[in-house]
Formats: sequence, C-alpha cells, structure tokens
Amino acid sequence: VDPSLDLFAEIEKLKKETNAIILAHYYQEADIQDVADYIGDSLGLAQQAASTNADVIVFAGVHFMAETAKILNPTKKVLLPDLNAGCSLADSAPAEAFRKFKEAHPDHIVISYINCTAEVKALSDIICTSGNVEKIIESLPKDQKIIFAPDRNLGAYVNKLTGRNMLLWDGSCQVHEIFSLEKILSLKRQHPEALLLAHPECEEIILKEADFIGSTTQILKYATSSPAKEFIVATEAGILHQMEKDSPDKVFIPAPPSNACACNDCPYMKLNTLEKLYLCMKFQLPEIKMDENLRLAAKKPIDKMMEISR
Ligand code: 13P
Ligand code: SF4
Repeated sequence: VDPSLDLFAEIEKLKKETNAIILAHYYQEADIQDVADYIGDSLGLAQQAASTNADVIVFAGVHFMAETAKILNPTKKVLLPDLNAGCSLADSAPAEAFRKFKEAHPDHIVISYINCTAEVKALSDIICTSGNVEKIIESLPKDQKIIFAPDRNLGAYVNKLTGRNMLLWDGSCQVHEIFSLEKILSLKRQHPEALLLAHPECEEIILKEADFIGSTTQILKYATSSPAKEFIVATEAGILHQMEKDSPDKVFIPAPPSNACACNDCPYMKLNTLEKLYLCMKFQLPEIKMDENLRLAAKKPIDKMMEISR
C-alpha cells in the first residue's frame, strides 16, 4: 500500500461506494476502533450483524465472530481482514472430539459459548455470550443436566453464580489465563483505591479478587458510570482505548501478566490491521463462505439465544 495514502479517508470512501458497515470488537487496535461504525462485545456485534441493512459487513474481529455474522445474515457479503484471525478458545473444542463428548452424555443439553466454530454451534442447543450467560442458564429448569463448552473458567464462574453443576468442557482462552494474581495484588497495594475489573474468561483465583466481572461492554459501562477514578483491567488490553476515550479523567491500568515477556494482547485479534482492513474492503476479500446445511444447523441455537436475550 502506498504510504502516502490516507487510509482513514480511503476506508470512508469505500464504505460509501460499497454500502459497507464496519463492525469491530473492543480488542481491535485503536485505529480500527476509530473507523468502525459499531464497536461492541460478541452479543452486540451479533445483534448488529443480524439487523444491518448494509450490503457488506466488514468484520474487524476474529473468525467465529465473522462466521456468526454470516450465519445470521447470509445474503450479505461478510469480509474478515485476515482469515487467520482465529481464537485459542474456539480451537480448544475440535468438533469431532466434542461430538463424542456429547454422545457420552445423552441426557445433557449443550450450552456453548459463542467463541466456538460453526460445527460446535451445530452440535449445541443454545449459544450464549459473556453478556447473557446467566440469563440463558437461569432460563433452564434447576434440575436440567447441562454440558457447558468450551470455556472452563466461564463455566465454573456460572456454576458458582447459579448454584448449578454443569459439566464443563476443558477449554480456555490463552489471553485471559495470562494474568498473575501476585502481581495484581501488589498493584492493588500500590493503588488501594483502584477497582479490579475482570472478564469471566479469567481464572477463578483472579475472579475472586474482582470488584466487577462482565463482558467487554459491561466492563466498559461499569468503568464509565463508576465514581472510582482508578481501575485495573483484567481482559485484553484493546478495551482500554474506549475506556480512556469515555473517561479521560480516569486511570486504567492493564492487569499484569505472569511472564514479563508476555502481554495481554490477543494475537488473533491483532492480526487485523488498518491496512488489511483497507485492502479487504478494496478487493472485497477474504470473504466468509459457508455450507448452507451447516449454517442452518448452527443458526438454530443462536436464534434461541437471541430470543432469550431480547
Ligand atoms: P465479549 O466481548 O463478548 O465479552 O468477549 C470477549 C472475548 O474474548 C471475545 O473473544
Ligand atoms: Fe479467543 Fe481469547 Fe482472543 Fe477472545 S481474547 S479471540 S477468547 S483467544
């Protein structure tokens, strides 16, 4: 790409020319968030994708999110700037192994977190996100046997919250398991007024210390409306961009990872760049394509989620 090109202006032009909407997750780099028409958590993004009138959905997020957009709104062209933008959590539940696990527990219904492949969605009864998981689980009878997949941390958190004993698939997110309890506690001692905000994909030892637990949108709303002035944020660091924009007078500190060489950037989310976003809009590639039978099977449990979380 010609370095003299104003990518922001070019992207705006392409948006109008192709009647495109840019949907971005909070973990995207700041420049991408700034050109997006909508920034949100997985639930908000799915709702936007389902209801948009645009002809092209440019999905600045990871593969399972763009796939969900295509499942919900198949007549639209769905573009993902980098097709390799996967998810370690979705990868932790391969469809074949999951099918066997499900078959071994035929009396359980399957609730899957949206961070999974379309194949795993097709094996599920209801999908949930971090924004609606409690509501979805509470909508089921108390004695209902449930398999929860793929995130064991979110599953354990919901078990505690609802007093259930869901059977958990042993998957996790590499970004949310990186935080050091010891370093967080030391940071809290240095900033005694700071509140710890955590995503439920974090491990239980971190969640135990949290002042607020929620989806990215819920964490952002909490930080914006809280009278507190300092926050330690235990989720992917991309969310700090909107937090700082919404509350310029507050201080947001990314929760420290255990390994000094590591960082809390999601390597998959960060595969998307402003340049790749521009190129994908210019060439209308790469596009998400799906087998229609798989799409219909994966849509059923998402539709149930949409109904319950309305
Ligand atoms: P939410 O934005 O839905 O809370 O999800 C977080 C996440 O890990 C997305 O990959
Ligand atoms: Fe997947 Fe974790 Fe990255 Fe979210 S932050 S996309 S759950 S690897």
